[in-house]
Amino acid sequence: MTEKGAVYRCKVCDNVIEVLQDGEGELVCCQVPMILLEARKEDTGQEKHVPIVEKTEGGLLVKVGEVAHPMEENHCIDWIEVKADGNIYRQTLQPGDQPQAQFALDPDEVSQISVRSFCSIHGLWRS
Ligand SMILES: [Fe+2]
Repeated sequence: MTEKGAVYRCKVCDNVIEVLQDGEGELVCCQVPMILLEARKEDTGQEKHVPIVEKTEGGLLVKVGEVAHPMEENHCIDWIEVKADGNIYRQTLQPGDQPQAQFALDPDEVSQISVRSFCSIHGLWRS
Protein backbone atom coordinates (compact mmCIF):
# COMPACT_ATOMS: atom_id res chain seq x y z
CA MET A 1 0.00 0.00 0.00
CA THR A 2 1.44 3.36 -0.98
CA GLU A 3 0.49 6.82 0.22
CA LYS A 4 -0.08 9.84 -2.00
CA GLY A 5 2.98 12.13 -1.86
CA ALA A 6 5.30 9.43 -0.50
CA VAL A 7 8.83 9.45 -1.95
CA TYR A 8 10.64 6.21 -2.74
CA ARG A 9 14.24 5.51 -3.81
CA CYS A 10 15.73 2.50 -5.58
CA LYS A 11 18.78 1.30 -3.67
CA VAL A 12 20.25 -0.18 -6.87
CA CYS A 13 19.95 2.58 -9.49
CA ASP A 14 19.01 5.64 -7.31
CA ASN A 15 15.73 6.29 -9.14
CA VAL A 16 13.57 8.57 -6.97
CA ILE A 17 9.80 8.70 -7.44
CA GLU A 18 6.83 10.42 -5.79
CA VAL A 19 3.43 8.74 -5.55
CA LEU A 20 0.72 10.76 -7.33
CA GLN A 21 -2.09 8.36 -6.55
CA ASP A 22 -1.99 5.79 -3.75
CA GLY A 23 -2.57 2.12 -4.49
CA GLU A 24 -2.33 -1.40 -3.14
CA GLY A 25 0.77 -2.58 -5.00
CA GLU A 26 4.37 -2.69 -3.88
CA LEU A 27 6.75 -0.43 -5.83
CA VAL A 28 9.64 -2.35 -7.38
CA CYS A 29 12.67 -1.07 -9.31
CA CYS A 30 15.68 -3.07 -10.56
CA GLN A 31 13.71 -6.13 -9.37
CA VAL A 32 13.87 -5.11 -5.68
CA PRO A 33 11.27 -3.30 -3.53
CA MET A 34 11.83 0.48 -3.46
CA ILE A 35 12.74 2.14 -0.14
CA LEU A 36 10.20 4.54 1.39
CA LEU A 37 12.04 7.73 2.40
CA GLU A 38 11.06 9.27 5.72
CA ALA A 39 11.33 13.06 5.67
CA ARG A 40 13.56 14.17 8.53
CA LYS A 41 12.97 17.48 10.26
CA GLU A 42 16.01 17.92 12.47
CA ASP A 43 19.56 18.42 11.21
CA THR A 44 22.31 16.79 13.20
CA GLY A 45 25.32 17.10 10.86
CA GLN A 46 27.28 20.15 9.73
CA GLU A 47 25.26 20.56 6.54
CA LYS A 48 21.78 21.95 6.97
CA HIS A 49 18.81 20.53 5.06
CA VAL A 50 15.64 21.58 6.88
CA PRO A 51 13.81 24.04 4.60
CA ILE A 52 13.26 27.54 5.97
CA VAL A 53 10.24 29.47 4.71
CA GLU A 54 10.14 33.26 4.44
CA LYS A 55 7.25 35.41 3.33
CA THR A 56 8.30 37.82 0.56
CA GLU A 57 6.54 40.35 -1.69
CA GLY A 58 6.31 37.74 -4.45
CA GLY A 59 5.01 34.96 -2.19
CA LEU A 60 7.15 32.39 -0.42
CA LEU A 61 10.90 31.98 -0.47
CA VAL A 62 12.18 28.58 0.67
CA LYS A 63 15.86 28.30 1.61
CA VAL A 64 17.82 25.13 2.35
CA GLY A 65 18.78 25.46 5.03
CA GLU A 66 19.77 27.49 8.08
CA VAL A 67 23.28 27.56 6.55
CA ALA A 68 23.20 27.43 2.72
CA HIS A 69 23.49 23.81 1.58
CA PRO A 70 26.27 22.98 -0.95
CA MET A 71 25.19 22.97 -4.62
CA GLU A 72 28.01 20.87 -6.08
CA GLU A 73 27.86 18.34 -8.92
CA ASN A 74 27.88 15.36 -6.55
CA HIS A 75 26.02 16.88 -3.61
CA CYS A 76 23.19 19.31 -4.03
CA ILE A 77 19.53 20.02 -3.35
CA ASP A 78 17.70 18.43 -6.30
CA TRP A 79 14.27 19.91 -5.61
CA ILE A 80 12.18 21.95 -3.21
CA GLU A 81 8.47 21.31 -2.89
CA VAL A 82 5.65 23.25 -1.28
CA LYS A 83 2.34 21.56 -0.52
CA ALA A 84 -0.39 24.13 0.01
CA ASP A 85 -3.96 22.98 0.74
CA GLY A 86 -3.30 19.74 -1.11
CA ASN A 87 -1.72 21.33 -4.21
CA ILE A 88 1.92 20.56 -4.91
CA TYR A 89 4.41 23.08 -6.30
CA ARG A 90 7.94 21.89 -7.04
CA GLN A 91 11.07 23.57 -8.32
CA THR A 92 14.03 21.53 -9.49
CA LEU A 93 17.51 22.91 -8.91
CA GLN A 94 20.86 22.39 -10.65
CA PRO A 95 24.43 22.37 -9.29
CA GLY A 96 25.61 25.98 -9.10
CA ASP A 97 22.12 27.34 -8.34
CA GLN A 98 21.32 28.92 -5.00
CA PRO A 99 19.81 26.31 -2.62
CA GLN A 100 16.48 28.13 -2.62
CA ALA A 101 13.25 28.55 -4.57
CA GLN A 102 10.61 31.26 -4.89
CA PHE A 103 6.93 30.27 -5.05
CA ALA A 104 4.18 32.65 -6.17
CA LEU A 105 1.84 31.70 -3.34
CA ASP A 106 0.16 34.02 -0.90
CA PRO A 107 0.54 32.33 2.49
CA ASP A 108 -2.41 34.34 3.82
CA GLU A 109 -4.74 32.62 1.33
CA VAL A 110 -3.62 29.12 2.27
CA SER A 111 -4.59 27.31 5.44
CA GLN A 112 -2.08 24.43 5.38
CA ILE A 113 1.51 24.59 4.11
CA SER A 114 4.26 22.01 4.35
CA VAL A 115 7.64 22.09 2.66
CA ARG A 116 10.07 19.36 1.63
CA SER A 117 13.56 19.40 0.18
CA PHE A 118 15.56 16.60 -1.38
CA CYS A 119 19.36 16.31 -1.07
CA SER A 120 21.10 14.05 -3.60
CA ILE A 121 23.09 12.44 -0.77
CA HIS A 122 21.13 13.00 2.45
CA GLY A 123 17.62 12.37 1.16
CA LEU A 124 14.31 13.90 2.16
CA TRP A 125 13.70 16.72 4.67
CA ARG A 126 10.65 18.67 5.76
CA SER A 127 9.41 21.59 7.77
FE1 LIG B 1 23.21 17.16 1.89
